[in-house]
Amino acid sequence: MPGIVIVGAQWGDEGKGKAVDALGGRVDYCVRYSGGNNAGHTVVVGDETFTMHLLPSGILNPGCTCVIGNGVVIDLDVLAAELDALRARGVDVAHPLISAAAHIIAPYHLVLDKVTERFAGNQRIGTTGRGIGPAYSDKINRMGIRVQDLLDADALAAKVEAALDAKNQLLAKVYNRAAIRADVVTEALLAHAERLRPYIVDAARVLNDALDQGKVVLLEGAQAHHLDIDFGTYPYVTSSNPTAGGACTGTGAGPTRIDRVVGIVKAYTTRVGEGPLPTELTDADGERLRAQGGEYGATTGRPRRCGWFDALPVAQAAMVGGFTDVFLTKLDVLTGWAEIPVCVAYDVDGRRVDRWPMTEREVEAATPVYERLPGWTQDISGARRFDELPVNCRAYVHRVEQLIGARISGIGVGPGRDQSVIINPLL
Ligand code: GDP
Ligand code: IMO
Ligand code: MG
Repeated sequence: MPGIVIVGAQWGDEGKGKAVDALGGRVDYCVRYSGGNNAGHTVVVGDETFTMHLLPSGILNPGCTCVIGNGVVIDLDVLAAELDALRARGVDVAHPLISAAAHIIAPYHLVLDKVTERFAGNQRIGTTGRGIGPAYSDKINRMGIRVQDLLDADALAAKVEAALDAKNQLLAKVYNRAAIRADVVTEALLAHAERLRPYIVDAARVLNDALDQGKVVLLEGAQAHHLDIDFGTYPYVTSSNPTAGGACTGTGAGPTRIDRVVGIVKAYTTRVGEGPLPTELTDADGERLRAQGGEYGATTGRPRRCGWFDALPVAQAAMVGGFTDVFLTKLDVLTGWAEIPVCVAYDVDGRRVDRWPMTEREVEAATPVYERLPGWTQDISGARRFDELPVNCRAYVHRVEQLIGARISGIGVGPGRDQSVIINPLL
């Protein structure tokens, strides 16, 4: 039963890091399959908080081998700094294994991310500025730099030169920026080569061997369904496939090796950056959700836009992801409201829509249709069994489960490692 995928079901920051860590000691391999250091996955252990941007969240569990899959884009400076910072905090980290096929975020990708966003003005995406889009663009344009290029200095130099050729024209002539020297970039990348060399592997082979041996392999998604380049609220998306299919293409674990797909669903809705968010609240309730949920970006510190639970995007994510299970997070944040609205449909141009709409325009025009569920006031952060939750809280969970159409196997009642109610254990 060993291949498990963790997928964000909304717009990111659902609590994937905590969910991955909670499976903890029982996971043999923890693998990031998409995105880069645009992610921020928080794990709270006792009174210590760790935020992983590039390393899989399993890194805090000794005995778990961490792997950065081919679908990830890697900023080598960030990788080195993240490893050093964990070691400096006394975490016993082994080096991660790194797919030779993963692409590298080069310094020019960061520059391009920033200038294109500035140039876009009010058409901007609100990216994290980490060079993600430009790195994936180069991958798709077949001019990317890959981890294996660190093993061949001459090939690397030639590739960097080729990649910079057109970009320097663009930087100078369109964006009025200084050209970037290829030799400087090559040197900066090669500075990491010696350290990383022993960890560069054929990760697809490593993972398939592990699966053959019955090991537990957890494929950790970053971002979320509605930030997916194909399924998300395009163009306000990231440049990769965070959805479950991306776990196969981003690691080399074939579809038949996946046994469970766990959707991570926040008990309300948040989003960072631009783009539609039908249940967004700009009133005191929105402020209160942000304050009670601590909704500030783990990567950029930006305040997250907050709103009530919206069943339509989550049911869509459950369908596309083929969720076998849902982990409902941050339910404790909803404590204290007399009534909790839940969006069960949209009004689009006077028409009731019960499912996630097909077109961008309909999503932009969607007004939520709410059902109001009775709230609860009891502190639930100490609950560990479902029957310890207040009756209205249990009713909220049941209604949300019905609306999503996938079974809720776990519930988060606080940020701490042990603050979960497990209904169906995954392992
Ligand atoms: P990720 O990107 O999906 O891993 O999520 P983030 O780490 O960016 O954001 C989730 C935030 O919620 C973090 O600060 C977590 O510590 C916190 N968190 C996760 N699960 C729970 C929960 O069940 N209750 C509460 N109160 N906080 C949680
Ligand atoms: P985790 O893994 C929330 C958003 C950015 C922006 C859009 C594109 O922590 O859930 P990018 O830098 O990827 O080109 O930005 O995607 N975004 C996230 N929002 N959580 C994330 O990751 C995100 N990663 C990217 O805010 O709107
Ligand atoms: Mg996050």
